[in-house]
Amino acid sequence: MGLLRPGINEVIATTEFNAAPMGIIMRDGAARMVLFSGSHTAENIEKNGWLVANIVYDPLLYVKTAFGDIPHDNFIEESINGKKMYRLKDADAWAAFTATIDKKTSEALMVTLTPRKEIIERVSLHPVNRGFNSIIDITVHATRYRMNRDPELKTLIDYHAGIVRKCGGPRELAALDLLMQSIS
Ligand SMILES: Cc1cc2nc3c(=O)[nH]c(=O)nc-3n(C[C@H](O)[C@H](O)[C@H](O)COP(=O)(O)O)c2cc1C
Repeated sequence: MGLLRPGINEVIATTEFNAAPMGIIMRDGAARMVLFSGSHTAENIEKNGWLVANIVYDPLLYVKTAFGDIPHDNFIEESINGKKMYRLKDADAWAAFTATIDKKTSEALMVTLTPRKEIIERVSLHPVNRGFNSIIDITVHATRYRMNRDPELKTLIDYHAGIVRKCGGPRELAALDLLMQSIS
């Protein structure tokens, strides 16, 4: 199995009928996550012990899933080693994992992932676009800014918003609009 690459893979993680952007850390052949307490993803992993990493390139979906829920018809059931798991219907590729909790603190869950199945559904090319990359960055900052209103994060958000406006296409601009509404 080799869908995810060394470093941090910013995927959309599905757990039950929940989807959220999450980082999967691949180091020395092992897949790990750090999940801050309070997210649905952390709750579901603790309860069910599985997660699917969905590879998608839709900037709007990153923003939608970071700040809210998406309808159930965005998900497809997969049977993995006799367990029902759910992935995104429109994922270009996906990797299903079982999840073991290594450590739990009041702030976070540290999790090791074991790969169970991965499929490439379609191959599509994505020329590098700084607007898309900045949507990923701005969404990370915005999920934190929403909690603490840190002015330094607002400076980073404004910087990346400038890049999205300059380099993004219509989908990136729609994602930026939704993001700005979500933190206003
Ligand atoms: C690209 C990206 C990567 C993220 N990685 C993580 C992560 O590794 N761990 C985490 O707890 N939150 C991470 N977040 C924040 C969650 O997506 C955010 O808290 C979200 O609201 C959780 O949704 P949920 O409650 O549906 O799980 C990330 C956000 C983005 C945009």
